[in-house]
Amino acid sequence: MKIAIIGTGYVGLVSGACLAEIGHNVICVDLDCEKIKNLKKGTVPFYEPGLDKLVKKNIKNKKLFFETDLTKALPQSEIIFIAVGTPAMRNGEANLSYVEKVAEEIGRNLKKYAVVAIKSTVPPKTCEKIKNLVSKYYDGQFDLVSNPEFLREGSAVEDFMKPDRIIIGAQNEKAKNIMRELYSPLNALIYTTRLESSEMIKYASNAFLATKISFINEIANVCEEIGADVGEISKGMGLDPRIGKEFLKAGIGYGGSCFPKDVRALRHSSGVNGYDFCLLKSVIKVNNRQRQLTVKKAKKLLGGLKNKIIGVWGLAFKANTDDIRESAAVEIIKMFLKNGVKVKVYDPIAMANAKKELSGKVVFCEDLYEAADKSDLLFIATDWDEFKKTDLLKVKKLLSEPKIIDGRNIFSPSEMKEIGFEYWSVGR
Ligand SMILES: NC(=O)c1ccc[n+]([C@@H]2O[C@H](COP(=O)([O-])OP(=O)(O)OC[C@H]3O[C@@H](n4cnc5c(N)ncnc54)[C@H](O)[C@@H]3O)[C@@H](O)[C@H]2O)c1
Repeated sequence: MKIAIIGTGYVGLVSGACLAEIGHNVICVDLDCEKIKNLKKGTVPFYEPGLDKLVKKNIKNKKLFFETDLTKALPQSEIIFIAVGTPAMRNGEANLSYVEKVAEEIGRNLKKYAVVAIKSTVPPKTCEKIKNLVSKYYDGQFDLVSNPEFLREGSAVEDFMKPDRIIIGAQNEKAKNIMRELYSPLNALIYTTRLESSEMIKYASNAFLATKISFINEIANVCEEIGADVGEISKGMGLDPRIGKEFLKAGIGYGGSCFPKDVRALRHSSGVNGYDFCLLKSVIKVNNRQRQLTVKKAKKLLGGLKNKIIGVWGLAFKANTDDIRESAAVEIIKMFLKNGVKVKVYDPIAMANAKKELSGKVVFCEDLYEAADKSDLLFIATDWDEFKKTDLLKVKKLLSEPKIIDGRNIFSPSEMKEIGFEYWSVGR
């Protein structure tokens, strides 16, 4: 099938490369000329395992193309995906201006029937509005479909190729069948719904996962008071299939480009529609408090923060990505800086992105040992495998004082004690 994808970011590029891989002809479009110029040469603008290979292979096979001009991509396309960003505004509302701009351009340039599929995460009822917007400029036939994306950064290619489910919200069988044909090579479970349900499934899923994280973080905080081990509790709870073991890892809170904004957007959109989603208010509060508690811990462990040196391992919002959007690590570093701390940082992949935000404010180190060297405290903020394999005796020698706050619980408290660290983790 012939596919256009408007917006070539994490979601657009992964979707484009994977759809090309399963046999479709894909044109990815983006406003960012530099990005498209590089992609035409096979250079992927961000770190995502396996994506580089897939992009290069499908460019070579003439299955995957890149354009800055949407009008070049539309004429042939049977399905046009909208995959631009929907960032949060100050009040939590999802900013739909990028989606609306693309919809208007599609309306102005559509010449024949196509399915317009919204992959961006949008609040319920948005698809209906976007349909009206396209219709304002195009009076021919088209169908609007909601097809939210569930890939996770760090395992995005794998997630796209082997999805647990594909959700398709549509208003008629014709559009549903076109989408079924698109995904048929994946042999995946396809669940079709009405438009608003599909939009809501995405928000509800992310909000539920964020709730699980805030829940286990609250349990962890209670564990610290009563001397229980949250790791044991997660395991014990996770053995119950009604609960499941995923997203029950205590830490410094959720971050990234999706959970924080989607939880806020669902809360906002519920409010606009007359319902106060009070549970989500607490989920957000707990998540913010988790960062503040980390700073408090550091203050307690160091007996004050002013002029102390803290080495930080990890900047990405989670392992295996270079994405630092709403990263808990970066937010905590900013709190350290406000408290007069000198911060030295290291991340295996996310340093370039972090430099855009923290340049001149922190010391960027060549490796994890340099970040530990002469630091009064080591703070582990991201659970990269590289950190788990480190030479801890060497780290102990390098630190001014053998103090570690592990925000991701990557080491065993008893082993750390044996080595001689003053080791504080979360809920253990
Ligand atoms: N990143 C994720 O893990 C993830 C997962 C699932 C869903 N989503 C959702 O998918 C959407 C996209 O997220 P992302 O992380 O890929 O965003 P992103 O910021 O990485 O990419 C968006 C791209 O759209 C481009 N763009 C903006 N306006 C455009 C226009 N008018 N024409 C062409 N291109 C335009 C931008 O230049 C950018 O490259 C969001 O709604 C997000 O919530 C993201």
